[in-house]
Amino acid sequence: MSFHIVEQCTARLNRTEFAVPGSNPKFLEKAAASNADVVFLDLEDAVAPDDKVQARKNVVEALNDLDWSGKAISVRINGLDTHFMYQDVIDIIEKAPGKLDLIMIPKVGTVSDVYALDMLVSQVEMACGVEKKIGFELIIETALGMANVNEIAAASPRNESLHFGVADYAASTKARTTVIGGPNPMYHVLTDADDAGNRDVHWGDMWHYAVARMVVAARANGLRPIDGPFGDFSDPDGYMAQANRSSVLGCEGKWAIHPSQIDLANGLFTPSEKEVTQAKRILEAMEQAAKDGLGAVSLDGRLIDIASIKQAENLVGKAEQIASRA
Ligand code: GLV
Ligand code: MG
Repeated sequence: MSFHIVEQCTARLNRTEFAVPGSNPKFLEKAAASNADVVFLDLEDAVAPDDKVQARKNVVEALNDLDWSGKAISVRINGLDTHFMYQDVIDIIEKAPGKLDLIMIPKVGTVSDVYALDMLVSQVEMACGVEKKIGFELIIETALGMANVNEIAAASPRNESLHFGVADYAASTKARTTVIGGPNPMYHVLTDADDAGNRDVHWGDMWHYAVARMVVAARANGLRPIDGPFGDFSDPDGYMAQANRSSVLGCEGKWAIHPSQIDLANGLFTPSEKEVTQAKRILEAMEQAAKDGLGAVSLDGRLIDIASIKQAENLVGKAEQIASRA
């Protein structure tokens, strides 16, 4: 272990991050009644410029009037390069004091973006006497943000999670995409011909590098890495395939941009009973190994060692967190 201890952010269940446009009060009501772990009320890209001011009012009303218990509530503010952002921050804190858990900051590019927001949020919180400190969710969705992702992740003690904003990331990097967050068949490997001259096409995951890089930056700073949107909500299999890949890489959850994606993400990011039982067996075996003065033992014919303890503890911890929410 390094001498540098990684402080872990506020623990929060974040299997789903449900996006709901602030311009639609009916959707806000449905979001409050949903099963999502975290809901973000959007003032940014799901809201047209002419609707921004009304959406802000709707969001303040929703924060005050709807019952958000059992879930964490976030607002995605407008970008730092717009004239909406400062007023978003002031209104959602001043007019709904103490209601927000998180603020989602889009298109974070540099460490100074986070610093600027931290300063503004701190001032408004102080002015309103709000004691609960609002956490930050940072969307990594530009080439600049990805280039600076390590520094951004370390930029504020308010930081809780990094999110891969695949749609804007594709636009920023000028990537060639087909569906938001899905694969592109052009990104494939063609195998060499076998004896009969046959060649296979293996689709690759064009998002692998970006997601993996974000996961490392998040984990190195004690934050949660969360995979972003999958645009084709009529394709649950495609959604699950992408969510599986990001969970294998270390993501803790995924956005849902449609209610039908909430249960998919909740299910996928919930450890199965079999996994939890196995993790408990590993912990028992390692407890016995410690008593016997051993660092590594075999369980079911496979090597487990001290590194397995942390993984097993994480899994059991997550299962307990989920059980306590239920
Ligand atoms: C999310 O904001 C995205 O751009 O994918
Ligand atoms: Mg975006």
